[in-house]
Amino acid sequence: MQNLPWSRRQFLKFLGATAAASAMTAPGCTSPSKTPDKKALGFEPLGPSYKDDLILASGLSASILASYGDKLTKSGKVFGYNNDYTAYLPMPDKTDEGWLWVNHESVEPIFVSGRGWGEKITKAHVSKEMQMVGGSILHIKKQQGTWKLQPNSTHNTRFDANTSIPFANGEKIEGSKIATGTLANCAGGYTPWGTFLTCEENYDDFFGETEYRDDGSKVWRPSAEYMQWEKFSKRPPEHYGWVVEIDPKTKKAVKHTSVGRYAHECATVTRTKDGRIVVYSGDDANDECIYKLISDSKTDIKKGTLYVANTDKGEWLPLDIEKNSALKAKFKTQLELLIRTREAAKLVGGTPQHRPEDIEVNPANGDVLVALTNNKPKGDYTGTILKISEAGGDAASLNFTAENLLTGGEQAGFACPDNLVFDKAGNLWFTTDISGGSIGKPPYEPYGNNALFYVPMKGVNAGFAFQVASAPKGAELTGPTFSPDYETLFLSVQHPGERTKDLKNPVSRWPLFGDNLPKPSVVTIQGPLMKKLMS
Ligand code: FEO
Ligand code: CA
Ligand code: CA
Ligand code: CA
Repeated sequence: MQNLPWSRRQFLKFLGATAAASAMTAPGCTSPSKTPDKKALGFEPLGPSYKDDLILASGLSASILASYGDKLTKSGKVFGYNNDYTAYLPMPDKTDEGWLWVNHESVEPIFVSGRGWGEKITKAHVSKEMQMVGGSILHIKKQQGTWKLQPNSTHNTRFDANTSIPFANGEKIEGSKIATGTLANCAGGYTPWGTFLTCEENYDDFFGETEYRDDGSKVWRPSAEYMQWEKFSKRPPEHYGWVVEIDPKTKKAVKHTSVGRYAHECATVTRTKDGRIVVYSGDDANDECIYKLISDSKTDIKKGTLYVANTDKGEWLPLDIEKNSALKAKFKTQLELLIRTREAAKLVGGTPQHRPEDIEVNPANGDVLVALTNNKPKGDYTGTILKISEAGGDAASLNFTAENLLTGGEQAGFACPDNLVFDKAGNLWFTTDISGGSIGKPPYEPYGNNALFYVPMKGVNAGFAFQVASAPKGAELTGPTFSPDYETLFLSVQHPGERTKDLKNPVSRWPLFGDNLPKPSVVTIQGPLMKKLMS
């Protein structure tokens, strides 16, 4: 699909309105349409595949770093299910040795507790499933050129649905200063002071949600039909949907209320020109919003002002009851507003988006890229990558311009962008997430299984997406993270075999094949092509 020509309009859009004039005279940009220059590219990109395997472009190879169920600690803690976001932080004074944070977003009961579709849930099912969500800290080390998990290292640990985690600032929510567990951990971020951020996304799948009627009364909506944990452990939904900070040195966690509560995809950290911390985050649901926290501090994210984006006007609008009379009238306290962030965002004019997924700041120019994966009820099946350019290039700015950087679809060769990462040469890499039930079905037949794409940001191939990996059946490739030397890409292969109904006939048998059931795993990708793509 990558070989189809881009329209001139799409190409100019990629370069951006201000670059349009120079694009007219740029080499290769003078014809009415543009095709990728395969010779300049220097490798053969993959095409769509429906094969049950992790397929990589020639010149790349993968090794398993950790799989579901791998032993992590002497006390018997194991690597959880459905690995998602990864982030690496080096250990102090060490080279090629550090902590890899890995989210465990969800469980598939049939593979984790043996609970089949429609089967009556038991306490034993829930107990097992609760241990397999949250996240892992892995001690990893580069040995003979390859990154390896250090089993039984005292650095390894797990956070799951039963870990006690306090709220920041001593805040009390639904009668408690401490939440039990973290779950629905999708993407995340990391801070300049050496901590990880993990984001609670579809928390309502696990313990349901509190909804508010117009008269202010509350009603509880049960969890997703396939979960139903509340049958054995009733917990306040308000304890989930936050950004959780994890310190790998102390193994302590804290739930931050400052970034608001919603289906947090990610928490991408940058600094304002005067050094304060900014956290960008998206609410991954149809017609939900993009947010940023401008912290009061240069060294933590405990307190600050939360803003929602109005991308039509190019404005960040504060969600602060002291700055808006409508917010003051609706919410008794700022904490209540933060618990009900979605409602506050709509009240002040936040722009509904097409499911904001990952956000990445372009290190070359400070542009904020947001994957808008799709919005099927609005007729958007293939998504876009939005570019937000903060006024003056300062993350503190409350004004910005926004335009589509990349548009999914048959011509572009990809659908449903999700996780983003930049490499050291400034190229953008992104993964796709066509949902398990939609892969191969209209209108997604042209795209094959989910994939990893590479997008040069300059040169004759700027703005074209080239496929470099294809996921096993039912899986999504997530959490791409480069090692500090950029020789290795850590990548999660999440939910291979999703939607399996019969263990005798699983949708996937990746990675062990034979008679084995599928296992979500984090892989390391290396090879000569990696260097070539960044040269
Ligand atoms: Fe868990 Fe929005 O992806
Ligand atoms: Ca995602
Ligand atoms: Ca990212
Ligand atoms: Ca997704």
